[in-house]
Amino acid sequence: MAVLEIVTYPNSVLTRRAEEIEKVDREIRKLISDMVDTMYANGGIGLAAPQVGVSKRVVVVDVRLYDPSTSLISIVNPEVIAEGEEVVHEEGCLSVPGCVEGIKRRKWIKVRGLNERGREIEVEGEGMLAIALQHEIDHLNGKVVLDRMSRVKRDLYKKRLQKAKGRA
Ligand code: NI
Repeated sequence: MAVLEIVTYPNSVLTRRAEEIEKVDREIRKLISDMVDTMYANGGIGLAAPQVGVSKRVVVVDVRLYDPSTSLISIVNPEVIAEGEEVVHEEGCLSVPGCVEGIKRRKWIKVRGLNERGREIEVEGEGMLAIALQHEIDHLNGKVVLDRMSRVKRDLYKKRLQKAKGRA
């Protein structure tokens, strides 16, 4: 068990496309298990590998708190293969502290990827599960919630961040 450090915006690992995983081996299984520990330790409902500084296409999601019918999910190389209509949802991110905004998402999605044994899986989710999956897959594509906000709000957050840095 290992709780890793959460990388925060504007670290460049969060703004570039993460790499496809060719083989789901022990190293990847260790990464998944550390990501799960890190997610729980920070009270998160999802985490993507770039958020722990690893530019690889792995996400973990656990929204049981909001939807007990779901379970802990980890997906390697996740790819959205179907999606429903648009919905706006209030979101925050462990890598963008202090920012909670309404973000346009899809109501439900279907994702294809690999499980921790390297077998192909499909995960279909709606509600919080769908939102969390979209949020984490965004991270793999170098996108954070800021990129889905209006420019005005994004600039405001960046300004606040600069100010906070000045104080540090
Ligand atoms: Ni996030």
